[in-house]
Parts: sequence; structure tokens; C-alpha cells
Amino acid sequence: MLSERDLELRKLANEEIEKYKDKVEADPYRLNYHHMAPVGLLNDPNGFIQWKGTYHLFYQWMPFDTDHGAKFWGHYSSEDFVHWKHEDIALTPSDWFDENGVYSGSAIAHDDHLYLFYTGNVKDEKGERESYQCVAVSEDGVNFEKKGVSVYLPEGYTSHFRDPKVWKEGDTWYMVVGAQSEDLQGKAVLFKSEDFSEWEHLGVVTGSGEGNLGGFGYMWECPDLFELDGKHILVVSPQGLEAEGMQFANTYQSGYFAGSLDFEKVRLNHGDFRELDRGFEFYAPQTTLDEKGRRILIGWMGVPDQYEQAQPTIENHWIHCLTIPRELTWNGEQLIQTPLDELKEMRGPVILHSSITIENDQKAVRGIEGKSIELNLEFDEIENQFAIEMFQYASLSYKDGILTLSRPHFEENQKTEFRRVELAGELKSLRLFIDHSSLEVFVNEGEEVLTSRIFPQAEDEHILFTSLGTSTFSIEQWKLKG
Ligand code: FRU
Repeated sequence: MLSERDLELRKLANEEIEKYKDKVEADPYRLNYHHMAPVGLLNDPNGFIQWKGTYHLFYQWMPFDTDHGAKFWGHYSSEDFVHWKHEDIALTPSDWFDENGVYSGSAIAHDDHLYLFYTGNVKDEKGERESYQCVAVSEDGVNFEKKGVSVYLPEGYTSHFRDPKVWKEGDTWYMVVGAQSEDLQGKAVLFKSEDFSEWEHLGVVTGSGEGNLGGFGYMWECPDLFELDGKHILVVSPQGLEAEGMQFANTYQSGYFAGSLDFEKVRLNHGDFRELDRGFEFYAPQTTLDEKGRRILIGWMGVPDQYEQAQPTIENHWIHCLTIPRELTWNGEQLIQTPLDELKEMRGPVILHSSITIENDQKAVRGIEGKSIELNLEFDEIENQFAIEMFQYASLSYKDGILTLSRPHFEENQKTEFRRVELAGELKSLRLFIDHSSLEVFVNEGEEVLTSRIFPQAEDEHILFTSLGTSTFSIEQWKLKG
């Protein structure tokens, strides 16, 4: 049974959707094949799971504003990753333990039911934060009943303690939580449960100030811990890293540590942190293991506190979207991200040019244009410098092993800003997904990814290719159906 407060919040949110529907839908920056909220602000993907065959993807949602606030969980479902249904609101901030936000969390199947674990965010009378790890349960995957608090804040941490990711190993359930220790260091904290009800606090698996991580952020958000090809991977979003050369250029980063988790000692022995994405907007990703055994990742195409209120969609009462789903694999050294195979189902007829040479020139290529497309380039030669210019707005350019993405600065319109990444080898291939106001670039079969929002003129569909010296490449393009 939903409480009166819950019903009231749902009604208000649905009214908000109705009120701005026309405005939101008329915005040329609405995306064609990415997840967005129907109105207001979307941030982290939550509760990503395949349950009884159906994929469920929830998201952090603030229906009443394009700023952060008391979050709801919005909900999409799909059978095939191509056709998505926007379901009823899953959770609202209606209870004493989550009244200032049903914050991020995860989903797990148990006893024929779908469970959601999330953080209840509460501000007390003095404005001080409290956080509770809470549970909700569903029989049908659509209607959820809150079960209340399952984990209270253990000693040793501040109330920045959130984003539970739950999984099962053998007969034991584990939960990893993002945390800040009392000495203001970011940590990933492990719990376990033998009965799915009582959770034992095991301690910190790794964090800022531990092992070789001196001063690695003051808070770690949205941890996700899983095994892939014999490695334990901890994906996490640390806050407070300083920019370092080409790395850590955004306000906050998301990346991973790879190593081996000693469950007895509660210790992840791991190598260096590596960013998952080198574009302007990528944060708080979450993964799931599907019934085919694939480890699939979806991220938020945004970063907290970075240009949020400068984005042009806010005048139409919405902001942000999620990334396309990416399959993760481990190549022996690093994670590789590949756009999920199912996305090929969105492709229209192919336009193919098997060998194009450009020499000290800038050219358009017949048929290569559009705002909802996938573009694959394979390079035979880049003698000096090669660039793709999109819609007189964003440009991707390669020279001397370095790939640079540039676009106008959101806040200071005249200025161009850059994100750069040094590739491990030559540039061999680029796979671009463009969707009206988004760009996702998969480099060399997913060794690097750059994800960004772009806000070009709506009418401009032109893509230009520039080469200094000689560049030879093949190109394939598909228009993508939503
Ligand atoms: C990450 C985050 C999470 C939190 C949620 C609130 O973007 O700050 O740590 O649970 O967003 O919306």
C-alpha cells in the first residue's frame, strides 16, 4: 500500500510531466535513442538488472526542477535494449528515512521477488545529513513496497555513506557502499549477509589513504564491485582528485581499480585507478550481469556541479541523459567497452565508402551526415593529422598519438575547451554514436571512450573530415532508429 504522502508525490510528479510535456518534446536537443527523464533532472542509472528476462533500468530523478533535490527513482524496462517502456514511478521520497531523496542504489533478484537497495537521504532540523541504506521489494517488477532501513551508519564514517550495490557469491550476499571516513577520505566499504536481512559491516576494501592511494579523494560515490575474467573490478566515482596532465580533467571522475579481492582480509589488492571515459560528461556508471553472462555498463552523461545550469535544455524544463549500454570485457590489461550488440538493431541501410583519401584538405563525404547516426571509421594511414568536425560545433582530432575532443565552453561561449587522451598505440578505428545532443566515441575497439553532450544548431547536420598530410580510411554510416 502506498502512503498518502507517496500518492501525493506521484500525483505532483505526473502533473509536472503533463505541464511541460509539449515543451520538453519540442526541444530539438531531445535524444532519439538515449534514456532521459520526461521532465526535470536525471542523474545516475540505478537498479540495472535483467529480471525474469526483462531488463530494468531505473534512474535518479528530480521531477520538479533541473537542479538536484529530493530524488525519485524513475523506471524504464525493455526486452531487447532497443524498445524501452517508461514505467510508473518506482520510488518517491515519501518516508522519514528517505524524505530528502531516494538516492542511488541497485537491484537484486531473491525468492522470486525483485529487491531494490538504495540510500535514504535525510536532512535533520539543523540541516545535517543522515543516511540510511533501505530496501524495497516488488512481485511484478513495477510496483514496489518499501521495507524501510536495512543498514544504519556504522561507526567511523560521516553521513556521506551511500549508493549500495548488492550481489551474491555462493550462499552469501555482499553490499559495497560509497563512503567518507571520519578523517574525510573516500572509501569503498563492504558488508555481508548470510540471510539477506542482517548485514555485517566488514570494513573498507580500499580507499583514499590506503595502500598506495594517498589523498585519492574526499568521498567515493557509486561503487560497483564484480568479477570479470578472473579479475575483481571496483568501479567507483571518487570526488576530489586534482587534474593531472590529461587525466582527471572533469570536476569529478569515474573509473576503476582492477585486482583481487581477499574476502577474508576484506582487502582489494589492486593496481592504479584508470578513468573509464575521457569525455566531458560521464559519471556514476552502474553495471549488471545479464542472463547471457555479459557485464553491461550504463553511465550518467553528466557530472555533478559541472556546467549543469548552463545547459540550453533547462529552459525547456529538462536536463541530462544516460549513455548507451556498453559491454565490458577484460583484455588482460584493461577494461574494453563495446557498444552493446543489440544496438545494431537500430541501424537503417548502410552507407559505405571503402577507401577515402584526403590530402591537405577538408571534405564532406557523400551521404555522411545526420543527428541520429552511428559512424565507423577504419584508418589505413594518418600521415600527420586527422580531424572530424561535427556540426560546426565539436571536433575530434588526432595527431602524434593524442586524440583531442573539443567543443565550445558551455558557460563562456566563445572559448573552446578540450579533453585529451594519449592512446596506447596508433589510431586504428573510431566508432561514433551521435544522438542530437550527445556524442560517444569508441576508440580502437573500445580501449578508450569519450562521452559528451553537444549543443550544435539543430539544423546543422554536416560532418567534415580534415587531413594534414595524407589520411586514408574507410567509413560506414547508419541512421539509427529510436
Ligand atoms: C552521484 C550521486 C550519488 C547519490 C545520487 C543522488 O551522482 O551524488 O552519490 O546517491 O547522486 O542523486
